[in-house]
Amino acid sequence: MDEPPAVGELTPPDRTLMGPGPSDVHPRVLKAMSTPLVGHLDPSFIEIMEEVQDLLRYTFQTDNKWTIPVSGTGSAAMEAAIGNVVEPGDTMLVPTNGYFGDRMASMAERAGGDVVTVDAPWGQPLDPAAVEAAFDEHSPDVFGFVHAETSTGVLQPSVPELTDIAHANDALVIADTVTSLGGVELRVDEWDIDVAYSGPQKCLSCPPGASPLTLNDNAMDKVLNRESEARSWYLDISLLEGYWGEERAYHHTAPITNVYALREALRLVAEEGIEERWDRHLRVAGALKAGVEGMGLEMNAPEDFWLPSLNTVRVPDGVDDGAVIQHLLDEYDLEIASGLGALEGDIWRIGCMGHSARRKNVSYLLAALGNALGEQGAAVDVDAGLAAMSERF
Ligand SMILES: Cc1ncc(COP(=O)(O)O)c(C=O)c1O
Repeated sequence: MDEPPAVGELTPPDRTLMGPGPSDVHPRVLKAMSTPLVGHLDPSFIEIMEEVQDLLRYTFQTDNKWTIPVSGTGSAAMEAAIGNVVEPGDTMLVPTNGYFGDRMASMAERAGGDVVTVDAPWGQPLDPAAVEAAFDEHSPDVFGFVHAETSTGVLQPSVPELTDIAHANDALVIADTVTSLGGVELRVDEWDIDVAYSGPQKCLSCPPGASPLTLNDNAMDKVLNRESEARSWYLDISLLEGYWGEERAYHHTAPITNVYALREALRLVAEEGIEERWDRHLRVAGALKAGVEGMGLEMNAPEDFWLPSLNTVRVPDGVDDGAVIQHLLDEYDLEIASGLGALEGDIWRIGCMGHSARRKNVSYLLAALGNALGEQGAAVDVDAGLAAMSERF
């Protein structure tokens, strides 16, 4: 190549992010990301690591010592959890009621595990009776479930019931809390969850890159006493423990800037208070839902299992879901997403997460969505939607 590529200055559009993640990043988090680097073994960074671990424990509501940010996106924390806890020959029970249960299955297979499933339709949570029956039939060593299924907008209720079943059968529980951590009630210790992983770009409103993971002593005991090494060197928790544990020895160069960002995002959680933050998501997403329904649209998730951080709205008959998404992007700089997997074309996915869970965003979204639907000739009543939203606020 003779000429250098003529790449201009970076000027991404100024979007409002109301999709399934990333969500709008708080300005304080962006500011934290522009602070100078220190080395990943600098004494000042060691202190920052400790602070991040403490803040993560608070956000997960756990005293677990083994609470760390994993370098990479939510899938890295997910693979660290599954790839370390599942040993070759283990059986892992996974759900079939959404997109991310399938990803759990793929990861468990790659870890050398045998996968068995507990079924529920897409758009429904797992029934504890079905989980019990699956335990009776398969005696799994590990049970994975998705607390907040981003593909369906369904929140898994009765988590303690599920963990009780697993523990009565001597299995470890891995919870996917990617779309719940910091936005929806989650109590890792009280609910007896052995391992929980998450992502920073959802209810924590932090850019992706360093992803929360927590393991209790039982899970860590299994990880540290594996017969064979974890298949991934990079995500081997027994090696990561050397860096994030007492030794603070080099394993890989931590994504310093992402750790800064996570620290600030978690400081915002602590300042707000975790329970107040859960309440805010309920309040703001409740107004969003009231607005959508007031407009004449239908939510996809059943009322009892509605997930405030991710709202699934049914696409009315005759409406082109992709054209609406494009209109919102082109005319309003507003991102929402289409359905995934079995629900593709049937729903829109509207996030209400972290810094995006604000009244300003919700009223903007409702007005813009009403306009996009109007362009398609859909019979929606935007004023009624906005009135229902205001009433809820
Ligand atoms: C429930 C759930 N699990 C796992 C993931 C994977 O996270 P990431 O895309 O950050 O790798 C996502 C991402 O949307 C998710 O919603």
